[in-house]
Amino acid sequence: MKGIILAGGTGSRLFPNTIVVSKQLLPVYDKPLIYYPLSVLMLAEIREILIISTEEALPHYQKLLQDGSRLGLSLHYAVQENPRGLADAFLVGEEFIGSDSVCLALGDNVFYGQNLSLLLQTAKRRVESGGAVVFGCMVKDPREFGVVEFDEQNRVISIEEKPLCPKSNYAVPGLYIYDNQVVEIAKHIQPSPREELEITSVNNEYLKNGKLTVTLMGRGISWLDTGSPKSMYKASSFVKTVQEMQGFYIACIEEIAWRKGFISTEQLRRLGMQLSMTDYGKYILSIAEEG
Ligand code: DAU
Repeated sequence: MKGIILAGGTGSRLFPNTIVVSKQLLPVYDKPLIYYPLSVLMLAEIREILIISTEEALPHYQKLLQDGSRLGLSLHYAVQENPRGLADAFLVGEEFIGSDSVCLALGDNVFYGQNLSLLLQTAKRRVESGGAVVFGCMVKDPREFGVVEFDEQNRVISIEEKPLCPKSNYAVPGLYIYDNQVVEIAKHIQPSPREELEITSVNNEYLKNGKLTVTLMGRGISWLDTGSPKSMYKASSFVKTVQEMQGFYIACIEEIAWRKGFISTEQLRRLGMQLSMTDYGKYILSIAEEG
């Protein structure tokens, strides 16, 4: 399975912060936002990943993450000319996807919690035999998201994009796993009234064909949106609190690469040395010691 991180868009809801810096490069506490979706793909053991962004921002992502080999990954880059919608990722990424299945992670979504790796592995296995898996997360106000509608038997009957009157409190977060059909489906969906190729239209197409699984993320997993200055701040504060309380780092991509066996202890130590002037680097070095 291949992975795509969509890290483009205008970031207009975060202006003036994002006038000259791409949103997904902004810090969430001690690391750039893109580290968080990247860590999720790594936890799913997806090592071939395409990063999509604007022409202006892409060189910065390339400078930050390079070809990925230092993390045991293979990173590729592509430009999205215009923010035509989330489903455009499959058109921009068509050649990269080839005949594989694919996991799309939005560049601005943060996940953390117990058994995340297991949940992702299970979803991945399911999709390897066809269909799509998306997730449902309980939120207080789902109006800004894709929202799942259930019937009386708790079967999913629709997903609505940003409904004024949501039919449940289950929002669909920015992490989607599809079989190879997704490319053809994305080619045939119509733009929405806001002129975007909506991921919700793709999901509804799978649902119509009886091939969509919605897995609910329980209380053990936190999903943080970073759509506004306030939610960016909340995400930073969450990461700081968890890291300080537990001593474990969230989205330390070097640690994940090592725990997943993508890199050796010696490689991890070298990565830590490069950042040894920071707490982040010291944490990596302490993990290497432990190893
Ligand atoms: O965060 C989860 C939500 O993400 C889902 O619940 C919704 O169903 C889904 O439509 C999406 O809603 P948003 O309104 O949050 O999407 P937004 O337009 O903010 O785009 C999400 C990220 O993707 C953002 O970091 C910018 C990037 N993006 C967006 C578009 C439309 C691109 O890179 N290219 C694009 O064309």
